[in-house]
Formats: sequence, C-alpha cells, structure tokens
Amino acid sequence: MKKTFYITTPIYYPSGKFHIGNAYTTCLCDTLNRYKEEQGYDTRFLTGTDEHGLKIQEAAKKEGKTPIEHVDYIAKLAQDLWKGLSIDIDDFIRTTEKRHEVVVEKAFEQLLAQDDIYLGEYSGNYCMSCEAYFTQTQLKDGHFCPDCGQETTIVTEETYFLRLSKYSDRLLDFISQNSEFITPETKKNEVIQFIKSGLLDLSVSRTSFDWGIKVKSNPKHVIYVWIDALLNYLSALGYDSKDDSLYQKYWVNGDEVLHVTAKDILRFHAIYWPIMLMALNIPIKFRLFAHGWYLMKDGKMSKSKGNVIYPEQLTEKYGLDAFRYYIVRELPYGNDGLFTPEDFVSRINTDLVNDLGNLVSRSISMVNKYFDGTVSNKTVNHPYNAFAIDLEEIAKKAFIDYQVYMDEFKVSNALFEVSKIIARTNKIIDETSPWDLAKDESLKDVLEMVMYHLLESIRIVTILYKPVLIETPSKIFEMLNVEHKLQTFLSVEFGLKNTYAVTKTPIHLFPRLDAEKEIEVIKSLMNPTVHKKEVVEKPEISIDTFDTVNILVGKVVSAKYHPNAKKLLVFEINTGDRVRQIVSGIAEFYKPEEVLGKKVLVIANLKPVKLRGEPSEGMILCGETENHDLYIIEASNSLEPGDNVR
Ligand code: ME8
Repeated sequence: MKKTFYITTPIYYPSGKFHIGNAYTTCLCDTLNRYKEEQGYDTRFLTGTDEHGLKIQEAAKKEGKTPIEHVDYIAKLAQDLWKGLSIDIDDFIRTTEKRHEVVVEKAFEQLLAQDDIYLGEYSGNYCMSCEAYFTQTQLKDGHFCPDCGQETTIVTEETYFLRLSKYSDRLLDFISQNSEFITPETKKNEVIQFIKSGLLDLSVSRTSFDWGIKVKSNPKHVIYVWIDALLNYLSALGYDSKDDSLYQKYWVNGDEVLHVTAKDILRFHAIYWPIMLMALNIPIKFRLFAHGWYLMKDGKMSKSKGNVIYPEQLTEKYGLDAFRYYIVRELPYGNDGLFTPEDFVSRINTDLVNDLGNLVSRSISMVNKYFDGTVSNKTVNHPYNAFAIDLEEIAKKAFIDYQVYMDEFKVSNALFEVSKIIARTNKIIDETSPWDLAKDESLKDVLEMVMYHLLESIRIVTILYKPVLIETPSKIFEMLNVEHKLQTFLSVEFGLKNTYAVTKTPIHLFPRLDAEKEIEVIKSLMNPTVHKKEVVEKPEISIDTFDTVNILVGKVVSAKYHPNAKKLLVFEINTGDRVRQIVSGIAEFYKPEEVLGKKVLVIANLKPVKLRGEPSEGMILCGETENHDLYIIEASNSLEPGDNVR
C-alpha cells in the first residue's frame, strides 16, 4: 500500500489580495506535495481561508459589506489565485463552512466539560491586529505588539481560558522525544525557551464582537479565532463527522503529516495546537516547518508602505514557471530573504534562460544538425568517455542529495542540485567541442555518445524539475519525443532510454529578460505611485485654441475591416448631426463586432482625408498604454450622440 502524506498551508486571513509571501508558502507546499507524489506517496494537500474574528468584521464594515460578503469575495480571490498558480490542492477549507463550525463547537464543549477550558476574567494588553494578549514583558517598548508592532490597548473581559500550563511538561517531553517535530532547529529552540519561561493559560473566547463561532453553552462568547482556525486541519478531514475516513487515513493511520507556516505563527502551531490535540486526546501526528519571510528592502511587505508585489503581476509578465521557480528557489532554508527585482530577473536569466533553456536548444539543434535528430546510446573507447562517466556520477549524486534536501524541506538546496547537473552537462559541450568532432568522420560514435548524454541529462533534469515547473516539462518531453507518463523518479537513471528521435522544430522555452528594462518594470509594479511615467510634453495652448477642437459624442452604427489595410477599421458613427465615416487604426485591438453600439468621443472638425482609399471625416479618441495598446475612450451612457465635449 502507498504511504500517505498530508500537507497544509496556514489558512490565510482574508485581509485583501494575497501577496508573494502568501504565495511562497503555497508554492512551497505544492512543490513538496508534487515531490511526494513523484515518490509514490498517496498525498493530500489542504489550504483555505481563516474567516472569523474582529479584524474581518471591521474590514467588512469599512467596505460597506456584511462579513460573509467580504469573506466570500476574498475566498474566491484565493481560489482563483491558487488555480492560476497551478496549485494542486485536494481541498479548500473555509472556516465559515458548517463542516468546520460544528467541529470547533464540539471540541470547545468537550474541553469545557473536561475542565481543560474554564471561565475567568482577563485584563491585559491586547493587539487588535493579531487578536492576542501580551504580557508586559512581551510588549515592545512597553506598549507595542511584539509580532506586528502595532499599539496594544488594555482590554478587560470575561473570558474562557485553555489550561496551557497543565500541559507544558508533557509538551516539553513530546518535543524532546520527537526531535524532528519542529524544523528548523533554531525555531525548535525558540519554542522550548518560550515554554520554559512559563505558559500562561490562554484566553480562548471574546465577548466584544460576534463575528465568529459562538460557544454553544454560552453564546455571548465567540471562540477565539486561533482555536477556531487551527482545527481546520482536522475538520477538513472529516474529523468527528459521520464520514471520518480521510481523518483515519491521513491522520490517525497516516504516515506523514506536515504543517508549513512562516515563523510569525510558530507559537500557535508549536504550542497551542499540540496542547489542544493532547487535551482532545488526538494523536500529534504532524511535523512543523516554519520558514522565513520574504522581505522587501524596506522591511515587511505592506500595502501602506506601498512595497507589495502580487504573484499575478509577475506571472502575467514572466510566465507561471518563471515565478514558481524564483519563489521557491530564492528564499534560503529557515531564513528570511529579500525580494528584489534585480534578483528576480537575474535568477530567471541565469537558471532558466542561460542554463536550462540554452542547454535544451543547443542540444536539440546539434542532434538535428549532426544526426538528423536521431541518436542512440553508444559505448566508445575514447578519452571523452571520462566526461560522460563524470556527468553520470554527478547526476546520480545530485539526485540522492536532491531527495535528502527535499525530505528536509530545503527546496532551494534541492533545486541547486539540479543546477549542478545542468552545469556539468553544459561543461561537456565545452570539453568535447562537438563542432570539431563533427569534422572527423572517424569520431562520429564519440560525437553520438556526447549527444546522447546531453539528451539523457536533459530528460533527468526535467523530471527533477517537475515538482516546481508546470508548463516546461511537457514542452521538453515533447521535444525529446519521450513518453511523458514514463518520466518519473523511477526513470532518473542514465541509459534507461536507449534511442532518441528529437523534434525538428524546437519550442522556445524562456525568453531572455532585458535586465535593465524589466527591473524598472518590476519596480513600477511594486510601487505604482513612486514610478513616474514619462508623459508626452507639448507646448502650452490657450483655452481659445482648445475651443477650436470640436469634440462630440458619437455612437458606433457599424464597423468593418478596411479592405486594403490590416490595421484599420472603417466605422460609421452617428454624431448627432449625421452619420459619418471614420477610419481608425485599431483593428489589432478590437474586432468590428466588439465596437458596435459603443459611445465614443470624436474629433469632428478634423480635416477629412482618405486613408488607403477610404474617406475619413474625423478621429475617434483612444488611450495608449506604455506597451502601445490602444483602448477606445468611451463616453458615459448618459451622453447622447452629438453632445458636446469640453
Ligand atoms: O496567520 N514571507 O494568516 P495570514 C513568507 N490565518 N511567507 C509569508 C509572508 C512573507 N512575507 N507573509 C505571509 C494567518 N506569509 C492565520 C493562519 S493557520 C491555522 C491560521 C505566509 O493570512 C506565511 O505562511 O496572516 C504565514 O505564516 C502566513 O502567510 C500568514 O498568513
């Protein structure tokens, strides 16, 4: 039977659009999940949204929405984003779903009945943003939240408490007996220190707002959002429901369970969550990997600083694989890392364009040139054999190390192992100079041996990239003309494919990025207000001069392609006084049927001209983007043909 692997991201707070930090955890999990699938595991991948709490109630109010309208919208954004990033989830949980709420309600009542939760009163420094109390010693500068830095306020309320203190010794024992429970080691030590400094019982209900799951036996209390949120990992498996087969399979009898989060929510996952499980008598099956943050040059990403970058902005411009590769490759294991446009562009140009892309295109074109596309595995007796053997050995070792790193969640290091194979393969081309070998008929077999090794290496490298790259592997397999389904970890071995008949028409994999230009583009995406556009400068005019231009509202009556010019559309426009013909150069951007009925702005007193034989009496106003795309400026629906524009 297959071993099981259950992996989860944090369920994200719907506080707006999801930035590259959130996307990092999700892409990392997706990569680890696909890696486990490649290894033959039966996997299950969960993400979702954490939809309760004061912050959300307030955010909704600010937008004039009900909380559920707000979270419905954001949950859809998350689902669309993950789909766009080809995140292969098995389930998406929302904490406002019934299947989750009943689990939380029941777990709370169970803990209450067992006296693991008790009613008391709390007064303390509360951070509204993190929805958590902090002791005086934990506060930054006596006032500020140690996690997010915002000012805390003193709140006193009747509240339920979870007896964390009762479980602290058991938890310390568990951590020391399960040395791999928390990774990296530094984070484990932080947690141990925190527990040893003394755990206070945790306030687990609120009475000051009502957007949350109510305590069933005392509904004026709303269950603390973290107690609610953490249980998602179980409710999504059907824990405590009629059909708990997934819970039995992936958790109780499961082989591996992995929660991935960033360091900001370490304490919740490494302390509160295992204590909840102990109290509920549920086995602690999970391991925790707390990664670092993607930071910007001026610190954490935040909308107010205007330094946020969104994944869609990068995938739209540079493609899905470039983004996915960058995001999981760049952040070093366990540490924070900087997102910079310079690194982004350089990573893509170096690893994907120069190393991988170049290797593939050079190899395919040489195999076509020297062997008309077909090469076989050849054993030859020539000193160049040593290069091939070296490559095979390097690839073998890299594959072993790659798996060791992936198993330790060191995705960046694992990908570096793949780069090593690519570098060694590119080097073989320099060492053997195939163009010289090709000049000597007696060295044909040696040349074939080299070519074959290039292709085998590309095949192996592509398999190892499968957990990260989505679109590229199938393009490469297509070019190599190998069966995609057979390209699994089981076939990461030189010599498994005996003969290649490669494509005659190579597919271009990654366009080279013009570094200077793209760095500027990314900077402008990161901070649109700081990036000043170069606007067209024209000499000043008086209002009287402007008044000489007669701009009228017009309505498109008909439109067709110009018979003699690809770029032109011929319009009939009703400008109130009459229907006039106008020829406009926007055929690349609009089909005739798309402009019918549009209300447009027309320069009506422009001197009539003939454009490629068609008379044109006026001009339709368009806006032009930086990329020179044209968009018609449309008039408000309240305006009618012939209305004056001034
Ligand atoms: O904390 N770099 O949700 P959240 C890397 N709802 N990862 C980052 C990041 C950055 N700059 N910024 C955010 C919550 N993340 C709770 C979780 S789980 C039961 C409840 C990632 O929307 C990282 O994984 O604030 C972090 O832990 C998570 O987003 C926080 O997401």
